Amino acid sequence: MRMAILISHSAEETFRIAEEYAKTLKAGDVVRLDGEMGAGKTVFAKGVAKGLGIREEVTSPTYAYMNDYGGVLYHYDCYRIDAEKAEALGLSDYFYAKGVCLVEWAENIEELLPLETKRVFIRKLSETQREITL
Ligand SMILES: Nc1ncnc2c1ncn2[C@@H]1O[C@H](COP(=O)(O)OP(=O)(O)OP(=O)(O)O)[C@@H](O)[C@H]1O
Ligand SMILES: [Mg+2]
Repeated sequence: MRMAILISHSAEETFRIAEEYAKTLKAGDVVRLDGEMGAGKTVFAKGVAKGLGIREEVTSPTYAYMNDYGGVLYHYDCYRIDAEKAEALGLSDYFYAKGVCLVEWAENIEELLPLETKRVFIRKLSETQREITL
């Protein structure tokens, strides 16, 4: 697998990197967005949404667990949920649907993830710098 490591110097740059990355995604892809709190996972998700042609405003699904953008994109935030609860809510079904899934805090629902996932890792280097591994 080819990997790319990029340095972003602003939220806008992370957004643009994500917008480009969206072009590499195929329907049904499940992408885990890994990185500490405030790393920029949601910023990245907004860029992917733009790249996928979604016009709705993308907001963090922290309390809703998952936001569905017209079946094209499913954006998860699993910070406050565990695998059992997520499964009970039917949240794992979308991993096998036709949209792209972006999953923040995927480690909390690890056992529900499909065998094949893609991974984006965002590492905070400073207040405004991020190392993004695609
Ligand atoms: N280079 C950068 N890339 C992305 N975000 C940046 C960058 N520099 C500064 N930021 C800021 O960092 C914050 C990232 O917030 P974001 O909500 O995307 O993080 P998150 O990883 O989703 O956190 P959480 O785990 O709480 O959901 C924003 O306030 C953004 O403006
Ligand atoms: Mg977030």
